[in-house]
Amino acid sequence: MVGSVLLERMKAENDFASFDPVFFSTSQAGQDGPDVGKGKAPLRDANDIAALAEMDMIVSCQGGDYTTAVHSPLRSSGWSGLWIDAASTLRMAQDAVIILDPVNRKNIDQALAAGTKDFIGGNCTVSLMLMAIGSLFDKGWVEWVNASTYQAASGAGARNMRELVLQMRALGACKTADDPRAAILDLDREVQGVMQADQFPQDEFGAALAGSLIPWIDKLVEEGQTREEWKGMVETNKILGLHSSIPVDGTCVRIGAMRSHSQALTIKLKRDIPLDEIEATLRAGNEWVDFVANNKADTLQRLSPAACSGTLTIPVGRVRKMKLGPEYLSVYTVGDQLLWGAAEPLRRMVLIALNKL
Ligand code: HSE
Repeated sequence: MVGSVLLERMKAENDFASFDPVFFSTSQAGQDGPDVGKGKAPLRDANDIAALAEMDMIVSCQGGDYTTAVHSPLRSSGWSGLWIDAASTLRMAQDAVIILDPVNRKNIDQALAAGTKDFIGGNCTVSLMLMAIGSLFDKGWVEWVNASTYQAASGAGARNMRELVLQMRALGACKTADDPRAAILDLDREVQGVMQADQFPQDEFGAALAGSLIPWIDKLVEEGQTREEWKGMVETNKILGLHSSIPVDGTCVRIGAMRSHSQALTIKLKRDIPLDEIEATLRAGNEWVDFVANNKADTLQRLSPAACSGTLTIPVGRVRKMKLGPEYLSVYTVGDQLLWGAAEPLRRMVLIALNKL
């Protein structure tokens, strides 16, 4: 799915004019590859280390197992090209850089100049958070962050997106909904019955997501944290290149959105910074931030998965000081998990490495 989105973006931006792509597949070698304006060629075998080693740069959207299987044999074979992927396998390796160039372009340029060869896209939630509030970290204002996430089905995979829609359809088929005179508690009972029925589709999620939510993403790591929650702190600090770590923690929750993640951030500032200064800083963060005024009309129109899915826009809104004290800031943000959360940093890294961006 990330590969398809990446291809769409590269075609839309005419990236293929800058290099000659060779397409590989783990399962369809020999079949026609995509035509990106340069004619079709047969797909090559993505498990053929010698064939891969002919490349100057490899971009993989195949996932962590593939990176684990191929990266190390490739490097052992003496290959010194650039490896760019979006899997978590290499992210925390000492000689890999997590790429999110609107936030850490300087680190990327330094690493390239120093001969770093592995450039890895970050966890989607972390990347989307930093696209939204990286500017506050840059100012040195942030003492810690607590993130309550509302993560879309796409983060769990293509089959999960389909299952979410099948769940919605099962709920949407509840007959009581069609009768405006029916008692609402009858409709509620019917919905609850459908959700709890054996035939309710939940092989992928293992639970109802439509009409419900799942406050667990990935596996347990330590001290009760899930791996998704653990990534928040380690990846944020690595992307920002910080020497002393800023604490980031929270609760990651799967909700019934298709492809955009949302996050409610509680940010402890190091001092009481006026809201207008915070707003100006967030607005200036990068060209994709859409600062949404804290009112109902703008929030409904612009600050939701429905509003920003399929776009590179990062809406940032509900910005206010909290009753907890003047150093406590509340921010809400949304972003397409498949774009800035996955494909976009990869295509931009290719262009950066080619001096085209
Ligand atoms: N782990 C993320 C999620 C997806 O489950 O939503 C991509 O980083």
